[in-house]
Amino acid sequence: MTTTVLDAAVLEELVSAAVAAPSMHNTQPWRFRLQPRTRTVEIRAALNRELRAEDPDGRGLHVSVGSAVFNLRVAVAHRGWEPVLRLLPDPHEPQLLATVRLAGCSPTAADALASDLYAQIWRRHYSRQPFSPDPVPGALRAELVDAALSEGVRLHLPDVDEARRLLGLTREAEARTITDEDRQDESRAWVRPGAETAFGIPPEALGPQDATGHMPMRDFSSLRPPTPMPSRPFERHPQLAVLATDHDRPADWLRTGLALQHVLLLATRAQVRTSLLHQAVEWPDLRWMLRDPRNGPEHVQILVRLGYGPDGAPTPRAAARDAFD
Ligand SMILES: Cc1cc2nc3c(=O)[nH]c(=O)nc-3n(C[C@H](O)[C@H](O)[C@H](O)COP(=O)(O)O)c2cc1C
Repeated sequence: MTTTVLDAAVLEELVSAAVAAPSMHNTQPWRFRLQPRTRTVEIRAALNRELRAEDPDGRGLHVSVGSAVFNLRVAVAHRGWEPVLRLLPDPHEPQLLATVRLAGCSPTAADALASDLYAQIWRRHYSRQPFSPDPVPGALRAELVDAALSEGVRLHLPDVDEARRLLGLTREAEARTITDEDRQDESRAWVRPGAETAFGIPPEALGPQDATGHMPMRDFSSLRPPTPMPSRPFERHPQLAVLATDHDRPADWLRTGLALQHVLLLATRAQVRTSLLHQAVEWPDLRWMLRDPRNGPEHVQILVRLGYGPDGAPTPRAAARDAFD
């Protein structure tokens, strides 16, 4: 599909694709603005949706925005433009996190990115359910490594022992988080029935805890008693993926978001479900310990869990026009 007309309907379509991206607690911490003269979409941080207790330096916010920027890039290419991306283009305006300029129509820009991934934007949701023991195929794992690398981010696929170590650190983080009042108050504010608001996580999208105590799923359900959700056994040997960067600056966090969404959409295309284990990254000492020294010096940004299982329930989004300045 190619078009060169950037009218209101097309703009709404592009931003709708962007806001379908994941964000921490579904805060949707982004704002969009069009500079019509240069056909550039600007993406700013919505600082009123910061998570001060759980994300004090805004790292998760940048990852979330990076994911939305990836979707925008895919949607722009799907429409036949060449998306020209700049991260943090203005040092005097740090909340301007990225710009995507819609450059001249180029048939080659609308190839794999556009046709393959655009459809997945609307299908992807986190699944917080147990997965089957079926392994993720080696070809897909290799594809995910390459996809992350194409965004400037490393993706590691830990073996059974390393995965066990990472889950142990995540369990420790989860234990700390559920006894930290500030973090609990903050999370509680973002778990909301879907009909109430277009932001936050509806209870239907939450999942059970692991009956074996092995898999440290974030215990959102403990936040809204009484919501008893029987625990269930999770897969014994989860397939984890670790996204890591050489540096730990805002641009690296944004790139992590680009890589994360690239990986999630490729997994979705292959019918592989995904969820995130972010708890240990939210505690600086545990985050440091997530590093595998065999990979050299790097900064772990996020853990992804991959596997086969039921679809996650959809989570609402604010309308594109409400995300637009
Ligand atoms: C940086 C980041 C961290 C996240 N951390 C977690 C997490 O630790 N546990 C979890 O269940 N979901 C986590 N999520 C997923 C969000 O809750 C989810 O994207 C949001 O609720 C929207 O739902 P959807 O992605 O299914 O559309 C995280 C998402 C992002 C972008």
